[in-house]
Amino acid sequence: MSRHTPSMSIMVAAARKAARGLQRDFGEVENLQVSLKGPANFVTAADKKAEKVLFEELSKGRPGYGFLMEEAGEVEGADKSHRWIIDPLDGTTNFLHGIPVFAISIALEREGQLVAGLVYNPITDEMFIAEKGQGAFLNDRRIRVAARRELAQSVVACGVPDLGRPDHAKFMSELGAVMNEVAGVRRMGAAALDLAYVAAGRFDAYWEANLAPWDIAAGIVLVREAGGFVSDLKGRDDMLATGGIVAGNELVSRKLGDLLKKVHKAA
Ligand code: IPD
Ligand code: CA
Ligand code: CA
Repeated sequence: MSRHTPSMSIMVAAARKAARGLQRDFGEVENLQVSLKGPANFVTAADKKAEKVLFEELSKGRPGYGFLMEEAGEVEGADKSHRWIIDPLDGTTNFLHGIPVFAISIALEREGQLVAGLVYNPITDEMFIAEKGQGAFLNDRRIRVAARRELAQSVVACGVPDLGRPDHAKFMSELGAVMNEVAGVRRMGAAALDLAYVAAGRFDAYWEANLAPWDIAAGIVLVREAGGFVSDLKGRDDMLATGGIVAGNELVSRKLGDLLKKVHKAA
């Protein structure tokens, strides 16, 4: 069983409340597929609604904490030592296409350090939570990163840059190198869930570039508390600022990170 702090209880309650709206709206997406413009506007509205619920619930539970949110951006709080980092809907493209692979992501930062993370898929009802020093849990069951030691046995997740996003050529060279070394490559389309799956030992490793803090803040806590290792693409601890991430158990994430560094050097 997980023992969590009152802050985590507030996070869980906020996520469950926002999830109810997303569940309803996801059910509606199918009905909207007929109109081309309809679904995109509808999804933006669903996204904003979920963020508003999270903002209201977390503000009620912890008055004065600051926020960094995907839609509304930065909201300063009276309490300068705490900040919520939120993605109300990670996996928007999946949501828009009726693919049930998306999540709410909430992280808590204290004095600039990530201390708690929650990633919740409202469709599978999988709630991944972790707090610094307390371990990581999936629906109250302890989770750990996979123990595989070889890339050749590893299933590795990644993110493919969307249309108009950087850097397609660089990603193709990364993918070319990685697929030559690993058992299989996956692309789910939700960075927060990719990291939660690494924490749960479903993926052996994961890498992606050009992410935003709200995509990865909660997942970083999950992976670390599941006994894993997270770095940026240079092997440093600067994921939120650089937007690059490599995650896995210590050995496999290092092997993957070294492989990517080799690709970047050769470019
Ligand atoms: C996106 C997802 C996706 C990743 C993109 C993100 P969004 O977030 O996490 O997996 O590849 O870079 O922007 O837009 O669905 O919240
Ligand atoms: Ca996102
Ligand atoms: Ca989002």
